[in-house]
Amino acid sequence: MLHSTDRRNTDCVKYDAIIDKYGQDMIPAWIADMDFKTAPQILEAFIKRVEHGIFGYTFRSKRYYGAIAEWYKRRYNCSIDPKWIVDGPGVVPMIAILINTFTQPGDKIIIQPPVYPPFFAVIKKNERIIIENRLRKTQNSYEMDYDGLEKVIDERTKLMIISNPHNPVGRVWNYEELEKLYSMALKYDLIVVSDEIHADVIYKPNQFTSLLKVGQKNVVVLNSPGKTFNIPGLTNSYGLIPDERLRVSYTETLEKLELTTGNVFGITALCAAYYHGEEWLNELIDFLQSNRDYVYDFVKNNMPLIDLTLPQGTFLMWFDCSRLGLDNPHQFFLQNAKVYLNNGADFGDKSSVRLNIACSRKMLEQIMERMKQAYDLLAKR
Ligand SMILES: Cc1ncc(COP(=O)(O)O)c(C=O)c1O
Repeated sequence: MLHSTDRRNTDCVKYDAIIDKYGQDMIPAWIADMDFKTAPQILEAFIKRVEHGIFGYTFRSKRYYGAIAEWYKRRYNCSIDPKWIVDGPGVVPMIAILINTFTQPGDKIIIQPPVYPPFFAVIKKNERIIIENRLRKTQNSYEMDYDGLEKVIDERTKLMIISNPHNPVGRVWNYEELEKLYSMALKYDLIVVSDEIHADVIYKPNQFTSLLKVGQKNVVVLNSPGKTFNIPGLTNSYGLIPDERLRVSYTETLEKLELTTGNVFGITALCAAYYHGEEWLNELIDFLQSNRDYVYDFVKNNMPLIDLTLPQGTFLMWFDCSRLGLDNPHQFFLQNAKVYLNNGADFGDKSSVRLNIACSRKMLEQIMERMKQAYDLLAKR
C-alpha cells in the first residue's frame, strides 16, 4: 500500500523550504521526490540494521553489485558484467567527476534542453562550455534533433549527457533513437553519459532501453534507486562503464577525491530495493499512471491552451504554456494558484512549467482545481 505522508517539519526541501518562504497556503509540486513512504521491505531492512546498533565503516559487497546486475537483467533485459559497476555519491556528483576526468576547462559538452537544470549547472561550474542541442517538439511529443547535433559538434566537443527517460518531457528513448545518437557519438569520438535515474517508472506499453543495449564503447550509464524508491536523501548511486579505459580513469578520480566509502543506509536500501522491492514498485507505477491520466484529461478538458504531452515515463509532467502569452508562467501559477511548480526557465524553456505528480490524488485534484481557477482568470483579462 502506498502511504502519502505529511512531510512538513522534516527538513524536507520540497515542503519546508517552500512553506518557509511562501507560507502554509502554498502547495509545493516541484522537486523530483515523492510524498510516499518507501517500500516496506526497505524500512524493514533499516529497522534490522538500526537494531544491530553499530554503524562502522562499510563496503559494497558482492551481494550489492549482484543486486544491480540482476536488476538490469530482470527489469530491462540488459546483461551487465558486475565488474563494470562503479560507485558514486549521487548521479549529479558522478557527472561532475566524469566531467573533471574526461574533459578540460573550455571543452564543450552537449545537452538536450529542455532538460534537468543541474546538467547546465554542473557544466558551467566546472568551466566547460554548454552546447545546446534542443529537443524538437512534434505534434504530441518531443524528439532528438540529429541534424542539429551533427552541426554543433566540433573538435572541442568531448562529451554528451542524455536523460533517459527524459526529465522533464517524459520521453523514453527507443532503440532506434538511441542507436542513431550512439552512431553519431562514435563517429565523432564523444563520450555519452546516459543518466538513467528515471528508468524504473515507465508506463505501458512503453519499454525502457538502456544505452548499454545499443553499445558499450564510450558509454557511461548512471543510475540509483533514489527516484524509484523515494530515497534520494541517502546519496548513493552507481555507474556502469564497460569501457575499461574509462572505468579505470573514473575510479582513479573517485579515489583521489576520497569518495569511495559507502554509506550504511544507502547500501542497505539498494539491496533491499533491488532484491525485494519489485512488488511495491509495480503498485507505484500503476498509481502514478492513474495520476498521469487524470492530469492529462483534466488539462485537455479544462485548460486547452496548455500543451501537455503524455509522459511515457517519470512522475513529472511538462506543461508548455506558450499559448497563454505569459512572461513567466511559474510566477503566474505561484501568485494566482498558490501552486509551486518548477520553473521551465531553469530547464531552458521559460514558457513551460513542470509538475510533480507523485503525491496523493486528493492533493493533485487540489492542484488542478487551483490551476484551473488561475487559468480562468486569463480569459477574463
Ligand atoms: C535526470 C536526473 N538526474 C539526476 C537526478 C539527481 O540524482 P542524484 O540525487 O543522485 O544526484 C535527478 C533528480 O531529480 C534527475 O531528475
